[in-house]
Amino acid sequence: MQSPRGKFITLEGGEGVGKSTNLQFVIQWLDSHGVEFVQTREPGGTPLAEQLRELLLQKRAENVDPTAELLMVFAARAQHLREVIVPALESGKWVICDRFTDATYAYQGGGRGLDRALISQLEQTVQKDLRPDKVLLLDLDPEIGLQRAAATGEADRFESEQLSFFRKVREAYRERALAAPERYAIIDAAQPLVDVQQQLAKELTGLLHG
Ligand code: TMP
Repeated sequence: MQSPRGKFITLEGGEGVGKSTNLQFVIQWLDSHGVEFVQTREPGGTPLAEQLRELLLQKRAENVDPTAELLMVFAARAQHLREVIVPALESGKWVICDRFTDATYAYQGGGRGLDRALISQLEQTVQKDLRPDKVLLLDLDPEIGLQRAAATGEADRFESEQLSFFRKVREAYRERALAAPERYAIIDAAQPLVDVQQQLAKELTGLLHG
C-alpha cells in the first residue's frame, strides 16, 4: 500500500528572527513525536542548488539584476524539488524546509519590488500545485532583527541591505500570511523563546493530528 503524502512545512522570517534556534526546536519536536522527516533549506538542498546559493549570497562588485536573482532562486528550487522535496513527500516523509517560495515573494517581490504576477507564474511552472501545508512565519520588527543578526558574523549580500529593504520584506511576508490564515502561522518572535516554542508546538500538533 502506498503511504500517504508527508506534510510540507516551511520556516520563514527576516534576518535575526531566531530561525536557526527555532528550526532546532521543530526538528527535536518531530523526532520526539516519531515523525519521519527530511530537513532541508533554500536556496540550496542539493549540490547544484547549494552552488547557486553561494552565487546568490556572495557579495560582488557587479549589481545583480533582480530578475536574474529571481531566476536563480527558482532554478535552485526546481532542482531541489525534483531531487529532495517531491521524493520525500511522496515516500510519506515530512519535509521541514528553512525558507521556500514565501521568501521569494518577500525578498524579490517585497524587497526588490518585482512583480508578484511574475513570481506567481514561475511558482506555478516550477511547483505545479505543490505549496507548503504550513508556513511558520517568525515575525519581528527588522530594527530588532538586524541588531540581533549583526552579532552573528559577516553580512552576506542580502544581510547587507538597508533597514528599508527589510521593512518591505516583513510587510510582504505579513501580507501573504494574513491573506491565507489557514496555511500560515504568524509567530511573534519578540516574545520570550518559551512562548515562541509553545506556539510552534501547537502548530505542529495541529498538523500531526489534522
Ligand atoms: P538564510 O538561509 O541565512 O536565511 O539565507 C538565505 C538568504 O537568501 C536570505 O537572506 C533570504 C534569501 N532568499 C531570497 O532572497 N529568496 C528566496 O527565495 C530564498 C529562499 C532566500
